[in-house]
Amino acid sequence: MVLTSGDLCSSHWLSLLGFPGAMLSEVLLVSAPGKVILHGEHAVVHGKVALAVALNLRTFLRLQPHSNGKVDLSLPNIGIKWAWDVARLQLLDTSFLEQGDVTTPTPELVEKLKEVAGLPDDCAVTESLAVLAFLYLYLSICRKQRALPSLDIAVWSELPHGAGLGSSAAYSVCLAAALLTVCEEIPNPLKDGDCVNRWTKEDLELINKWAFQGERVIHGNPSGVDNAVSTWGGALRYQQGKISSLKRPPALQILLTNTKVPRNTRTLVAGVRNRLLKFPEIVAPLLTSIDAISLECERVLGEMGEAPAPEQYLVLEELIDMNQHHLNALGVGHASLDQLCQVTRARGLHSKLTGAGGGGCGITLLKPGLEQPEVEATKQALTSCGFDCWETSIGAPGVSIHSATSLDSRVQQALDGL
Ligand code: PMV
Repeated sequence: MVLTSGDLCSSHWLSLLGFPGAMLSEVLLVSAPGKVILHGEHAVVHGKVALAVALNLRTFLRLQPHSNGKVDLSLPNIGIKWAWDVARLQLLDTSFLEQGDVTTPTPELVEKLKEVAGLPDDCAVTESLAVLAFLYLYLSICRKQRALPSLDIAVWSELPHGAGLGSSAAYSVCLAAALLTVCEEIPNPLKDGDCVNRWTKEDLELINKWAFQGERVIHGNPSGVDNAVSTWGGALRYQQGKISSLKRPPALQILLTNTKVPRNTRTLVAGVRNRLLKFPEIVAPLLTSIDAISLECERVLGEMGEAPAPEQYLVLEELIDMNQHHLNALGVGHASLDQLCQVTRARGLHSKLTGAGGGGCGITLLKPGLEQPEVEATKQALTSCGFDCWETSIGAPGVSIHSATSLDSRVQQALDGL
């Protein structure tokens, strides 16, 4: 069904979706951002600081309570729809989900979930992990209810998947926030007349804890930085497992470019380790220098506040250039990333790779005052190289809940995609 903006601004569309008036408040629309690493990729593996920032490309989730005794999950981006009978799920012995606030998905637990899910042997990996993370969060969070709820859940994303932009974390964060809210473990922060709102610090902590467990189902042993950025938004500093939020980081406009060159994070991380072992005197100072770049960037972002000065942008650009050269020296560059840097450099803009490198994505800082035709021309030039390119911002808000009746155009587009 395609909803028009007229439909969305009235209660008419909710009745079209089969909702009696009394249940309006139970439709939840949640969104959570992806992430990019601003500085510190690879160095972070060796104990240095990384700065991770929320990317304003978001994942959207719509949760509608049902009365048909089913749990429906649809993920239109990867073309899947699943349905389970609540009665069957209710009969399952879920004692394997330990009691306690937040259960940990051990490998045995994930194996049990596979039996429950009824996943076919030839199920694609992405599909099976998305379904397992959903079932884990649904069964764990809703098991405290007298009866498991019948729900229709659809999740749609603006984030390309598998590009190192934290799409799985945004998925887990949306699921955790919506399920905790529908089960009244945390209150719905949306008040009458609000278009969008966020949860309290304590509630966000609980969302983040559950989202981390969803990430563990999907990734095994993730660092937790992706779900933290998606939950809290803004900018985070990450070092040796310690995560802290930067106070009032500015929202910076960027171009995010996906070179679409596939890369393997594990291989690239191993390559840097080998280079460090082979040339310790050369590579260790590079890592120390990247650490200093992250710290200097953190300092400048802290000073930028709400009225950034042109000189501060010049510093950010220099830091981007220096880090890109260091990353090349570490051996994680790629011809496609060189091309991205050259195309943007020719237009006076500065770019670096983000994430593992070897292809994948890059970011370009957009200075304030840059004319829109110039931004469009740069996007066009990058698209003609065969890349995907988005104009977006970093330092975006974390997980948020949106009103169903006063939607902005992006939420509306997300709903159209469901
Ligand atoms: O896989 P990506 O593109 O999100 O990047 C991983 C970042 C690294 O620093 C290269 C690896 C890591 O585990 O931090």
